[in-house]
Amino acid sequence: MRTRVIRFAVGLYHERARIACAGYLRRDPLSLLKLRPGREDPYEVYDRLRAAGPLMPTRQGGWACTGYHGCDTVLRDRRFGRHPAEDRPGMSFLGMNPPDHTRLRRLAQPAFTPKAVARYTTRMERTAVGLLDEAAAAGRFDLVSSFAAPLPIVVITDLLGIPDSRAADFARYGQAIIGSLDGIKSMRHARQLLAARADLRRLFEHLFELRRRQPRDDIISHLVAAEGEQITPREMVPMCNLLLVAGFETTVNLISNAVLALLAHPEQWQALCADPDGLAPRVVEEVLRWDPPVQRTSRVALEQVELEGKLIRRGQQVITLIGAANRDPAAYQDPDTFDTTRTAGPPHLAFASGIHYCLGHALARAEAAVALRLLATRMPRLSRSGPVRRRDTTIIRGPLHLPVATAPTPRALVP
Ligand code: HEM
Repeated sequence: MRTRVIRFAVGLYHERARIACAGYLRRDPLSLLKLRPGREDPYEVYDRLRAAGPLMPTRQGGWACTGYHGCDTVLRDRRFGRHPAEDRPGMSFLGMNPPDHTRLRRLAQPAFTPKAVARYTTRMERTAVGLLDEAAAAGRFDLVSSFAAPLPIVVITDLLGIPDSRAADFARYGQAIIGSLDGIKSMRHARQLLAARADLRRLFEHLFELRRRQPRDDIISHLVAAEGEQITPREMVPMCNLLLVAGFETTVNLISNAVLALLAHPEQWQALCADPDGLAPRVVEEVLRWDPPVQRTSRVALEQVELEGKLIRRGQQVITLIGAANRDPAAYQDPDTFDTTRTAGPPHLAFASGIHYCLGHALARAEAAVALRLLATRMPRLSRSGPVRRRDTTIIRGPLHLPVATAPTPRALVP
């Protein structure tokens, strides 16, 4: 055991050193994306990658795609999919190929239809108003921890039927798991992750028990009713984990990225304040294109495919850089301009495309629109009041802290 731990730790630190060396010394763009410069501004790195062509080989023997057309094709074309060997215990349907993916996605789908989402709107509005009342009383607050994060937590805990008394634990476990999407950063991180996974599993298993005896109108009750027929007991915890992880931190960052973008473009913030109901959904769409919370995903070629003039061999991985595709000049006019009045251009890829297209897209859009509408209505004089700290992650992008004030802050105080 001790030898395995040592080997794991050595591998971990070796990998970090390799990335730092490739990024800082050799200026390898894909490594830079995992380091501070790429986290601060990945779009500049994407431009450099794009200059080398829409599809470029990676140091790991796969490909990275920056072009809209290439990414959209990889995400839609059924000759690409998840690595078949990835179908292992603990894997959610996000990591599966049909037919298992189809069966499990179909089971979760009814909770996410636009009609189902509409049922949550009042709860979202009530929660947002409560949070903004508290923040307004303080005058200055962290937009992320006081507003953008608590709102999706309330919605996802409601949806899954997590009792209010466990909501805080639930959010903590979720954060630990999301923090591992980019890989394990240290031995301490590995230990925290294992503990969070075990605690979350216990919480879900306890709820399965409870809902078998006392079913309610929530996803967990729906899952236990389908157990044995449409879903195996082994698939239940991974499904719940997915809904937590996919539905929580992504939406937090959508709301935070939107506020950050709007405060950096005051004329567009003022336009939203003048017509919050009409403009909020359009602002959400432009933020999803311009600064998407999920910056990348990947697929594996299930057979040999020709793409963008290159031959992708069976088994090779293609990283689809969603953040780059959404700013591809071949797809969008003035792609680097944040323009909430934009109408031309193809649908952005923030929710991916094809069979894994985000199941929670309607929910995320509704949450973000409610958040922005109420923020603009209640705090039209909102301003930044301190430095923004970014998350230490590559796949997920957004601020960790975004200090704001309900009244204008002297410029000198905002770095
Ligand atoms: C702004 C918020 C969100 C963003 C940017 C986002 C983004 C994405 C992306 C890019 C994928 C595809 C990943 C891939 O193909 O590899 C995805 C899948 C998924 N998302 Fe979201 N998501 C958001 C919110 C949500 C919410 C609120 C939920 C539900 C509570 C959710 C549930 C899912 C599920 C279940 C999948 C897997 C779909 C499948 O494999 O068929 N997401 N999301």
